[in-house]
Amino acid sequence: MGVDTEVVRLSEVEAAYGRTTVLRDIDLTIRQGSVVGLLGANGAGKTTLLRVVAGLLRPRAGQILLDGQDVTTTAPHLRNRAGVCLIPEGRGIFRSLTVRENLVLFLPRHASPRDDIEAGVEAFPILGKRLSQTAGSLSGGEQQMLAVAKAFLTRPKVVLADELSLGLAPKIIDEIYASLRTLRDEGITLLIVEQYVHRILEFADDINVLSRGRVSWSGAASEIDEESLLTKYLGDQEVEVLSGARGPE
Ligand SMILES: Nc1ncnc2c1ncn2[C@@H]1O[C@H](COP(=O)(O)OP(=O)(O)OP(=O)(O)O)[C@@H](O)[C@H]1O
Ligand SMILES: [Mg+2]
Repeated sequence: MGVDTEVVRLSEVEAAYGRTTVLRDIDLTIRQGSVVGLLGANGAGKTTLLRVVAGLLRPRAGQILLDGQDVTTTAPHLRNRAGVCLIPEGRGIFRSLTVRENLVLFLPRHASPRDDIEAGVEAFPILGKRLSQTAGSLSGGEQQMLAVAKAFLTRPKVVLADELSLGLAPKIIDEIYASLRTLRDEGITLLIVEQYVHRILEFADDINVLSRGRVSWSGAASEIDEESLLTKYLGDQEVEVLSGARGPE
């Protein structure tokens, strides 16, 4: 597959929770093998966009293509089987289950657990020492590694990563990003929501900024610097804080 093949395309996507429209007129193309950063203020719709791509929220309008196939109404588990791997906000691991049990649950149905959790342990050796420990008793960084291990076990087409660095120490974030680079080097496409602008600018090929549910800027990471990006969406945040202050509270 050439580097310019599209793996995901959203056309004119609109999504809502009940009557509240959260995404409007989203056109987004993700090239096979690329790293795409998704930035925006709190509440801009970043998580919602990932949920729409993963199939957890059906768009009210528009179309989603995966490898050129229309998956707009395809159920999440089938999208997952077709190669979409969401690492959700808040990690999406089972805290009361052991590390081993979590890894086994990540595996595709047909896999044999004994051999196959190895790929996760190889990516994050510390998990190998924690296999019998409950996931909830891991450190925050270890929990995030466990969540990212899913991508190493399933080798998806595209990983949707939601705020992986939230609450983690810089050294741990380095480790998480190193693992994302490994996935990228294997040809896996990455769509990453990140709050640390410099992290994503260093890594991403393309950047999309969401402002109140619309793509307000999109281009190559090399075309924009941290300061311009920050003002793009911190500007939004200030407006939100102000309008919040004028609210009914
Ligand atoms: N389940 C839900 N029901 C109703 N409204 C929701 C729901 N989830 C999110 N929203 C609203 O949709 C908007 C977008 O939320 P979303 O979580 O996608 O934003 P975000 O960009 O990921 O924000 P953050 O940076 O805080 O994670 C927000 O106004 C939020 O309040
Ligand atoms: Mg979010």
